[in-house]
Amino acid sequence: MRLPVKSSALLAAIGFLLVEAASASLSVDSQASVVVIPPTVSNGLTEAQFISSTHGLDGPKLSNINSTAFGEVWYFNTVSEDGKYSVVAFFWASPSPSLTAQLQNEKILSAQVIVREDDDIYSANSVFAETAEIFTSAKGTSGLWLGTGCSFSGSQSLSTYSVNFSSPFEITGSIILESVAPAHYKCSSAEAGVDTQILPNFGWVNAIPDAQTTVDLKINAKNIKFKGIGYHDLAWSNAPFFSKAKGSLFTEYQWAHGRIGPYSVVWLVITGSDGTNLTSGYVSRDGKVLGTPCSNVSVTPQFNTSTRQIRRFFAQIDLRHEGTLYAQLDVGGILINDAGFVAGSGGLSGGLSSEAFEHTGVASFEYYRSVQLPEMPSGPQ
Ligand SMILES: *[C@@H]1O[C@H](CO)[C@@H](O)[C@H](O)[C@H]1NC(C)=O
Ligand SMILES: *[C@@H]1O[C@H](CO)[C@@H](O)[C@H](O)[C@H]1NC(C)=O
Ligand SMILES: *[C@@H]1O[C@H](CO)[C@@H](O)[C@H](O)[C@H]1NC(C)=O
Ligand SMILES: *[C@@H]1O[C@H](CO)[C@@H](O)[C@H](O)[C@H]1NC(C)=O
Ligand SMILES: *[C@@H]1O[C@H](CO)[C@@H](O)[C@H](O)[C@H]1NC(C)=O
Repeated sequence: MRLPVKSSALLAAIGFLLVEAASASLSVDSQASVVVIPPTVSNGLTEAQFISSTHGLDGPKLSNINSTAFGEVWYFNTVSEDGKYSVVAFFWASPSPSLTAQLQNEKILSAQVIVREDDDIYSANSVFAETAEIFTSAKGTSGLWLGTGCSFSGSQSLSTYSVNFSSPFEITGSIILESVAPAHYKCSSAEAGVDTQILPNFGWVNAIPDAQTTVDLKINAKNIKFKGIGYHDLAWSNAPFFSKAKGSLFTEYQWAHGRIGPYSVVWLVITGSDGTNLTSGYVSRDGKVLGTPCSNVSVTPQFNTSTRQIRRFFAQIDLRHEGTLYAQLDVGGILINDAGFVAGSGGLSGGLSSEAFEHTGVASFEYYRSVQLPEMPSGPQ
């Protein structure tokens, strides 16, 4: 869906609000801008930008984050080539910084890192930040969560992101991502004027679909160093993620990012609690996008029949004249397993239908299925 006219009106409105919120007087039309996110929820309406612009692909999309908004989350992920290590990092500007629990915080700015080494899991949660400063320059964005020791810094062309942690954060060091795959939205490459919503009022941009990563972290006395593949996206909403009537916004959610041979692959399959479905596939080869389809994408999960844990995914992404990408993700290390939400990594194999051989590699995934809540007894009316 393209709404170029509406988008410029919306952008103008948001630009005005961002300038009001920011301490510096810069407009969204310039090459650089800074937005300061205050530490606590705001009163009034949360304004959201859901139509893409050319500037600041993963720049702030909300102004005035109120107590019922999901907020914004800058997400980074990496898994080592041998699958031994994986890391996820979240930079939250959200009163409810969780996909599994309905939190209600007054303070909204925090960062969280989870690291896996074989079967050992390490995690760190930051203190709440004093403010977050988000700098946007051309396409890239940098974010500083003041007082937490956590920041990320993106280059103007989106080619490199570094995610840095220092004291008082309990994990220190850096993750450097060097992009190997062009950015995209759910059903298109990174163009201006496209609808970024993956569910009503829930936006998503995949600024780095695939990257070479260099990880150097210190956890207590332990050094974790590896090279692997990485990923970065931003998700935002001015609506709540959980509601009393519908539970979470998703009843089922499947996401994965991986690399097999020359192919960078991302899939996102969502069933919303309002019955809306989204299937989005992305495949690039040697830095060129082969397709960003939203139809003829299928992902089938398979479970262990005794433990009922997620075991495998089969994915098919139709790339029209390029053929169909087939991939199988075999679940390996688990990073998060909480209230129906599972995040981890695994081996990925597959290739294009037009090819005679299969490639192998690694992938990261998330899988969520809403836990069936017991029937509420209906009270006297
Ligand atoms: C927050 O903003 C949203 C979107 O504008 C609005 O629907 C909602 O009612 C607001 N919440 C509060 C508590 O003001
Ligand atoms: C982040 O870490 C990298 C690698 O150690 C370093 O080169 C870079 O200067 C750091 N950036 C910031 C903002 O601290
Ligand atoms: C969404 O997908 C589910 C499960 O595949 C299906 O039952 C439902 O009818 C779909 N909804 C729409 C609006 O297509
Ligand atoms: C989906 O696949 C079918 C069968 O191959 C094809 O006819 C149709 O054009 C495809 N649709 C899209 C939107 O690619
Ligand atoms: C299912 O899980 C059990 C317990 O971890 C394991 O022993 C079994 O091999 C698994 N089954 C399959 C088919 O993977």
